[in-house]
Amino acid sequence: MTADVTDLMKKLVSLCKRRGYVFQSGEIYGGLQSSWDYGPLGVELKKNIEASWWDFMVSTRPDVVGMDSAIITHPDVWKASGHLKNFHDPMVDCMKCKSRFRQDNIEGDSCPECGGSLTEPRDFGLMFKTQMGALEDDSATVYLRPETCQSIFVNFRNIVTATRQKLPFGIAQTGKAFRNEITARNFVFRSREFEQMEMEFFCLPEEAEKWFEFWLDERLKWYRELGLKSGNIRTRRHDEGELAHYANSCFDIEYTFPFATGGWGELEGIANRTDYDLKAHIEESGQDLSFLDQINKAKIIPYVIETSGGVGRTMLAVLLDAYREEVVEGRERIVLGLHRSLAPVKAAVLPLSKKLSGNAMEVFDMIRTLFPVQFDETGSIGKRYRRMDEAGTPFCITYDFDTLDDNCVTIRERDSLDQIRIPVETLAEKLSALMDNGWPAG
Ligand code: GAP
Repeated sequence: MTADVTDLMKKLVSLCKRRGYVFQSGEIYGGLQSSWDYGPLGVELKKNIEASWWDFMVSTRPDVVGMDSAIITHPDVWKASGHLKNFHDPMVDCMKCKSRFRQDNIEGDSCPECGGSLTEPRDFGLMFKTQMGALEDDSATVYLRPETCQSIFVNFRNIVTATRQKLPFGIAQTGKAFRNEITARNFVFRSREFEQMEMEFFCLPEEAEKWFEFWLDERLKWYRELGLKSGNIRTRRHDEGELAHYANSCFDIEYTFPFATGGWGELEGIANRTDYDLKAHIEESGQDLSFLDQINKAKIIPYVIETSGGVGRTMLAVLLDAYREEVVEGRERIVLGLHRSLAPVKAAVLPLSKKLSGNAMEVFDMIRTLFPVQFDETGSIGKRYRRMDEAGTPFCITYDFDTLDDNCVTIRERDSLDQIRIPVETLAEKLSALMDNGWPAG
């Protein structure tokens, strides 16, 4: 990593801790490597990202339904999916500097870091295993899911029967996935426990290409709606050698993650999984997972277009995109220019002096049920503005001594620093308009 990259990531990680976005898991015990806990603002941002995804992919679509499956999964699911066979990497360790590498990334037999000798390759399984029930033998082995989508395939027949969907239609779910990543790093970009947002769209085989293009466009649209700068996202087609065993074509949506090799890192994959998964589960389970095509009166195995993204990666992209340092009127400030729909706290009520706290609290009470709002009375007003800028809060409402006479408050907008003064009784309405339409509201 270059100094700039390290610097930006260090600054962001530090802001995340300072403002309560993300903490290292188990920090007081020295920290559990590559495990992250989301703090009060982080959990709101994460929820806002997921809610936006659910809204875009499920609630507003007549042809997509949702589900929420168990994390601990029947072992045969992973036998059928190919994970038990394919989901591991051969690794080598340097005997001198102890660095660990994927064998297929190494040329020659000495360490690329220090030239030391390497161990023989050893297989590292990426699945988290655990035991179900009291017995500790092989029959009790179960797995934490390494992806959410397999439960969608396994429940395909249940969902078709319960909802009477016609092709084409999608099944979506969000939730935790677990991978014993060998090289978990770069903050929440690659961790061992993470959240996925996946949708499997079942269609006629001859329409798969059309839907593939449709969903690629839709997914790009969603990232743009989150406010990511368009120059910072792109799509990239996988070449033959890169394709996963289940896919016949795949595009990644990539973001300019500062640590990524070549400048771009994967945010999400859109893949044509063909009929690979349904067929694999038919074979393993012996159950009929075909679909009765009413038009042709024939049983078919649908093709599947998958969109598969991560909550943590989206959040990291959103934070990197929003982070900026600037000097305003001779003073430095750090701002998270988050889109208002994602901002964890939408507005903060700030009494100019503690003497005004009681009155300002009444204003706070007027709006606190409308949006997530904070009340902050500690420190100078400048410091409080800066805290809110760093947290990404779009609007600050200042209650000053004049308010006692004119019953008006000042709304300050985070990015432009413009201010308007409005009567207290119109505040709720004005804030709602600002949340809907942005600044300045007419
Ligand atoms: N069902 C297909 C699938 O899981 P993937 O490319 O392995 O495909 C999809 O994962 C998405 O899940 C990635 O684009 C990324 O956003 C997220 N993801 C995967 N592994 C991750 C990890 N170790 N940490 C954080 N996010 C991860």
